[in-house]
Amino acid sequence: MDTVHRPSNGLAAGPIGRAAARLIGPRGIADPARLRREVDGKIAVITGASHGVGAESARLLGAAGATVVLGARSMDELEAIATEIKAAGGTAVAIRLDLADPASITDFADEILHRFGRVDYLVHNAGKSLRRSIHLSYDRPKDLTATAGANYLGPMRLTLALLPSMRARRSGHIVNVSTVGVLFPVAPKWGFYLSSKAGFDVWMRAVGMEARPDGVTLTTIYAGLMHTRMSAPSRWMSALPGQTPAEAATVIARALIAKPRFMIPAYGYLTSAVVPLARVPLEIAFTSVYRRLGDTDAALRAVNGTGSCDAE
Ligand SMILES: NC(=O)c1ccc[n+]([C@@H]2O[C@H](COP(=O)([O-])OP(=O)(O)OC[C@H]3O[C@@H](n4cnc5c(N)ncnc54)[C@H](OP(=O)(O)O)[C@@H]3O)[C@@H](O)[C@H]2O)c1
Repeated sequence: MDTVHRPSNGLAAGPIGRAAARLIGPRGIADPARLRREVDGKIAVITGASHGVGAESARLLGAAGATVVLGARSMDELEAIATEIKAAGGTAVAIRLDLADPASITDFADEILHRFGRVDYLVHNAGKSLRRSIHLSYDRPKDLTATAGANYLGPMRLTLALLPSMRARRSGHIVNVSTVGVLFPVAPKWGFYLSSKAGFDVWMRAVGMEARPDGVTLTTIYAGLMHTRMSAPSRWMSALPGQTPAEAATVIARALIAKPRFMIPAYGYLTSAVVPLARVPLEIAFTSVYRRLGDTDAALRAVNGTGSCDAE
């Protein structure tokens, strides 16, 4: 199981922080009976199911009676979670998926359609975060291919592979786990991550509008802070209120049950309205803040070849 990444600061981890995180939202649905009524017997494909939010979502949907297809690169973790779901009486299968490798995506989609013949829910949850000064990426093409693969081109390819069968059956729901960061002022050092998340958000919404008349719906979750291995390297984030992976999984459950077009933390409405109006002062302020922030230890370790680049 994942290391649990908890808020480090007493305020964020205590009752006030938990209450603030709940208030900020987006809200989930934790009622198991309601979830079971929706997903029992359905085929749910979850990308990035080896860690964090994806792993917890797989557990939640598996416990509610869905047949869960877990996709990611770390097969040991995927198998362990699938085994856990099956031991609890659920149905789950682990299939390797590397969203940065087109052949892997084709194999993943072919195997799903061959084994199950359909997909009821496609949860685009896999993601690769990166906060690194651009000069550290000059000689690292992997920064581009890993973020574009996991966050943009890979989910596009997977949608192209699975959407035709969903539209043909005139049924299915797609969830895109995006980030509220795409509704914030553009932030220095986050270029690869935010542009790839924003690119897929726009593409998926355009495709979702075409697919809706054919019975395939889309929820975009503009997720706020979630305390996972992804956010852990930015230490200041662990002092802020955020959702645990289990809480975030209930947000995905709400997306499957209620099928809203989008879900957003409360402050996301504010930033969506203010950011276009105050672009220049915000850019000046963010430039100044990020010049002082430096790079995370994880980002520097990956550049120096002494660490993984999966969470940085
Ligand atoms: N944590 C936050 O504060 C936050 C905030 C807003 C949005 N989000 C979004 O929430 C989603 C879940 O993130 P998390 O916090 O749960 O992060 P996480 O714990 O790091 O999990 C990310 C998952 O994505 C998978 N993944 C990464 N690259 C992949 C690739 N090339 N092919 C297939 N799978 C890949 C990883 O599996 P393998 O390494 O095994 O492949 C892992 O299972 C992401 O889309 C992220 O962008 C997170």
